[in-house]
Amino acid sequence: MATEAYDVIEVIRTKRAGESLSPELIDWTIDAYTRGVIAEEQMAALNMAIFFQGMNRAEIARWTAAMIASGERMDFSTLTDRQGRPLATADKHSTGGVGDKITLPLAPLVASFGVAVPQLSGRGLGHTGGTLDKLEAIPGWRAELSNEEMFAQLSELQAVICAAGAGLAPADKKLYALRDVTGTVESIPLIASSIMSKKIAEGTGTLVLDVKVGSGAFMKDEVNARELAETMVNLGTDAGVNTVALLTNMDTPLGLTAGNAIEVEESVEVLAGGGPEDVVELTCALATEMLAGAGVHDVDVREALRNGRAMDYWRRMISAQGGDPDASLPVAAESQTIYAPADGTLLKLDAMDIGVAAWTLGAGRARKEDAVQAGAGVRLHAKPGAQVRRGQPIATLLTDTPEKFERAAALVEGSMLIGTENDRPDTRLIIDRVAAN
Ligand code: URA
Repeated sequence: MATEAYDVIEVIRTKRAGESLSPELIDWTIDAYTRGVIAEEQMAALNMAIFFQGMNRAEIARWTAAMIASGERMDFSTLTDRQGRPLATADKHSTGGVGDKITLPLAPLVASFGVAVPQLSGRGLGHTGGTLDKLEAIPGWRAELSNEEMFAQLSELQAVICAAGAGLAPADKKLYALRDVTGTVESIPLIASSIMSKKIAEGTGTLVLDVKVGSGAFMKDEVNARELAETMVNLGTDAGVNTVALLTNMDTPLGLTAGNAIEVEESVEVLAGGGPEDVVELTCALATEMLAGAGVHDVDVREALRNGRAMDYWRRMISAQGGDPDASLPVAAESQTIYAPADGTLLKLDAMDIGVAAWTLGAGRARKEDAVQAGAGVRLHAKPGAQVRRGQPIATLLTDTPEKFERAAALVEGSMLIGTENDRPDTRLIIDRVAAN
């Protein structure tokens, strides 16, 4: 067996003592872990040391670069449309929230302005849903594409949403699975390097980050969310990706649906020029940032939702991946309504509680290998700020497994806070914009 250049126990002790890791140590650590030389329990100990001691900017950049180097890098610099004209690329990444279906209307909207959107997405784990689970509610739609198919679709219609191949940042795949079961997910250096290694390896020219703040997000407060946003924007910028972040509220679910088929349905409403105002506002803000990063300024993105131009791209994008955009979506077998317990202003519908309720009803999975129910989820009938009357429907629970109603109902009932008629909750959605410093 080959002799290793370093000793992992020394790496763990160095970080545990709060010292920084040298570039050589970081490169070796990621490589040795990917090769299986560093054991899972050793990497778990190192993650916990990083969780408590943090990493400086140079360490985070090197850790990210080492994870990128563990796999393939995609290159869209030669991408052209069917007429052979070069195409700029722009992508969006959300740090995860409840009812966050924005990718669905956003990708075709941006594509409709001639900017290519290579949106590599994942499946949901825990209370936040996954874009691929949502799209798989559409009969026939296929998430797995080869790199060649992805390039061909981007060239043809400028939008693709598909599963990230196993070749992108394999070190992160291993590391993220380990962090998930060792209580080390919520570390800013580890989240930033995990997300950005995949996005930089993906090769997009422009990246817009939607960093969620609030009860339904990884980052519960604005200070931490801002630090995560700044860390990721700096990593992207230093790697030559045009990167900007929006800090957005995730105390309340986005829109009126949390689930799979029901989120597709709401996205189609947005693409048809309707839908909830918060989903439209965020879709338009992110589209404007993506287009500006790709050099497209002064365009009316709302108009492209209203006049059917983005819908056209959606239909072609879904069809190209085997889906039928006209097919009826799956509907849950059972439903139960939750009513307002009092008169007044609805002040709160806690995103975490609603997310866990949707997950409990079958919209999400507890383990990677579990299947999701396409029709399950929570449909909301009111949002914070609304005046409600006692006995008015606030939410409908949807599932094929009615034994889940009791727990989900308790969560949704517990998520509500009703104040007096004069109370006004803060319903601001976009908190700030973070650019490189
Ligand atoms: N999403 C990721 O890809 N990585 C993290 O660490 C957290 C969210």
